[in-house]
Amino acid sequence: MIVLGVESSCDETGLALYDTERGLLAHALHSQIAMHQEYGGVVPELASRDHIRRAIPLLKETLKQAEVSSADIDAIAFTQGPGLAGALLVGASVACGLGLAWDKPVLGVHHLEGHLLSPLLASEPPEFPFIALLVSGGHTQLMRVDGVGRYELLGETLDDAAGEAFDKSAKLLGLGYPGGPAISRLAEFGDPGVYKLPRPMLHSKNFDFSFSGLKTAVLTVVKQQTTNICEQDKANIARAFVDAIVEVLVAKCMNALKHSGLKRLVIAGGVGANKQLREALNAAAAKRRYRVFYPELEFCTDNGAMIAFAGAMRLQQNHEAAQKNYAFGVRPR
Ligand code: KG4
Ligand code: ZN
Repeated sequence: MIVLGVESSCDETGLALYDTERGLLAHALHSQIAMHQEYGGVVPELASRDHIRRAIPLLKETLKQAEVSSADIDAIAFTQGPGLAGALLVGASVACGLGLAWDKPVLGVHHLEGHLLSPLLASEPPEFPFIALLVSGGHTQLMRVDGVGRYELLGETLDDAAGEAFDKSAKLLGLGYPGGPAISRLAEFGDPGVYKLPRPMLHSKNFDFSFSGLKTAVLTVVKQQTTNICEQDKANIARAFVDAIVEVLVAKCMNALKHSGLKRLVIAGGVGANKQLREALNAAAAKRRYRVFYPELEFCTDNGAMIAFAGAMRLQQNHEAAQKNYAFGVRPR
């Protein structure tokens, strides 16, 4: 079975073809980061307009790469939510339009399920069951995953998502958008322990997170500077921020593994690309004989491959999951 995936929930347009027998056949991605950078964040209307411009050329590229024609495709999966409403509507319209033109069934995929299953696209995928940490720009969740569609939410953020904390703290330090990679790079030059930031909910007896206080703590430190912050100071603050957030994320993952008795941990979502987080998780897991699985770096952030894959997994379970009535809504929240 070959599934076309369409991702357009935020600032990346992604198209991909996944074959349940041969694996990922092709994928093409356009990131709008450069376009949104001058505004310091994603401008929803610009995002929608760009998805429209990019979707069909990316589709053509994907079909060409895979040497697949529309007749070979069995179904079309698109990101139904969560995400920006206008951006999601572009992907839904593209999927339904293609479905109608090609007479193929269409199914809506949950963006987070796409992220969650993306490590299964790697060359050494984890086996079920596992604990998953989903850390993106909009979500921070710890889950127990027993199979496709069998997800138990263990805990989540009570306020800001991890990626949001990265982005907002980076902004406070005058770094560009997206802030995650920028603050992470800067932190490498910072000295540890110069600034001490809080570790919110580190010792709470649950698997929830809270990051808005951490961002406020960064603001307080920035405001305390009487003169212009020098580059070294910025790096020291970035280091303190990264150390704090990484410590909390790692500790909660280790607690969830211990509590569940499982030995496999899967990391998904944009923050999963973070170098310091990966190093700390690998070290903590090695000590306890756990294994950590990551998506390929290119599939950490938004992409069409994870949507094609999640759609294919859903369809394998239930062939009725895709429909030809093309009457889909989107679910931004
Ligand atoms: O999963 P994603 O592409 O989109 C959402 O579904 O939200 O995640 C984007 C988030 C942004 O907040 C971005 O700053 C963060 O992931 N991010 C990183 C890194 N790369 C992306 N955060 C920390 N370190 C990184 N290397
Ligand atoms: Zn995402």
